[in-house]
Amino acid sequence: TTLLIQDQLHRPMRDLRISVTDRCNFRCSYCMPKELFGDDYAFLPGSELLTFDEIRRLTRLFVSLGVTKIRLTGGEPLLRRELPVLVQGISAMGGVEDMGLTTNGVLLGQQAEPLYAAGLRRLNVSLDALDPELFGKMNGRGLKSGIILQNIDHAVNTGFEVKVNMVVQRGVNESEIEPMARYFKEKRITLRFIEFMDVGNDNGWSFKKVVTKKEILERLQSSFEMEALGHSYFGEVAERYRYKDNGAEVGFITSVSESFCSSCTRARLSSDGKFYTCLFASSGLDLRALLRGGADDASLLKAIRAVWEQRSDRYSDERTEQTARSRTKIGMSYIGG
Ligand code: GTP
Ligand code: 5AD
Ligand code: SF4
Ligand code: SF4
Repeated sequence: TTLLIQDQLHRPMRDLRISVTDRCNFRCSYCMPKELFGDDYAFLPGSELLTFDEIRRLTRLFVSLGVTKIRLTGGEPLLRRELPVLVQGISAMGGVEDMGLTTNGVLLGQQAEPLYAAGLRRLNVSLDALDPELFGKMNGRGLKSGIILQNIDHAVNTGFEVKVNMVVQRGVNESEIEPMARYFKEKRITLRFIEFMDVGNDNGWSFKKVVTKKEILERLQSSFEMEALGHSYFGEVAERYRYKDNGAEVGFITSVSESFCSSCTRARLSSDGKFYTCLFASSGLDLRALLRGGADDASLLKAIRAVWEQRSDRYSDERTEQTARSRTKIGMSYIGG
């Protein structure tokens, strides 16, 4: 049985974004800058990560409160050992209508097949540039874009529905907007342009560095004929458009210029078991402590429900240069994208 709950702004809880590791093999400057995430950075020890049993148990409880859509994230989720085992467990769970995974794509060459076999069907791959040098610089590891492009093709051939996420930063990868659009249009893969956000601390964000949807769309429309499709379901973050000539789609994730907090149905579970209701939260409920302290399902449900029902956060609606600078936030690699 499902109990449908609402927060203070009447938002239901529909999606659960689960971070399965805080580690990543990239060092994107806007997420895990090298200067902050160096060789001696203290990532979570294995014992602090939720086990698959713990994740499954919590997922089941979230589903009983209305969640139907699961997203696995990180850090880089493919770094979590035996991930297909978890995928299998979640895809077989009653009430889960949709499951996706967000990855940088580096390890898809080896992992696309086992993940597909475990029941995963959707992949969102992050890629910020086609230009190999620029991409190498942006990912902080010098890895060339060709590998990711090959892995995307491989994932498509395996049977996955693939979307590509590009975070656009003024003065960094603006020049890649058109080449990326052209490349993925020809492949008929949906590319989503993401407005650069002030997640975490010290990611160098300012309003000036945001290239808005309006600007990106204008650039695209000078080369392509496009029509608006809007959103495909309540709470979808991306606004969709279609190229008139071949029907391929693009999306815009406008968390800065047109925030979508009023339809934010997303709950987040960090890799160490904290439950957050906003990407920009500064604290979360420690579900792992409850789990490991022997809490039964009823008391876990009660705790989750209380947090959601109290929820009134809408950070992106309220964002100013001032809040962006002064608020202490949780890193995106930790909380999950
Ligand atoms: P689909 O299920 O394929 O629509 O995936 P998704 O867009 O929900 O997930 P994905 O991980 O691909 O997210 C794409 C971008 O949207 C990332 O930059 C996310 O951080 C951003 N995003 C997702 N959810 C939120 C949110 O609740 N708030 C804000 N501000 N950004 C979000
Ligand atoms: N602004 C916008 N998107 C971001 N992502 C990570 N950091 C930021 C940021 N500062 C994106 C990643 C990935 C998704 C999970 O979040 O590129 O596509
Ligand atoms: Fe890793 Fe994704 Fe963060 Fe880049 S944005 S450092 S790929 S978690
Ligand atoms: Fe939801 Fe917070 Fe993002 Fe707004 S800023 S959409 S409340 S996660």
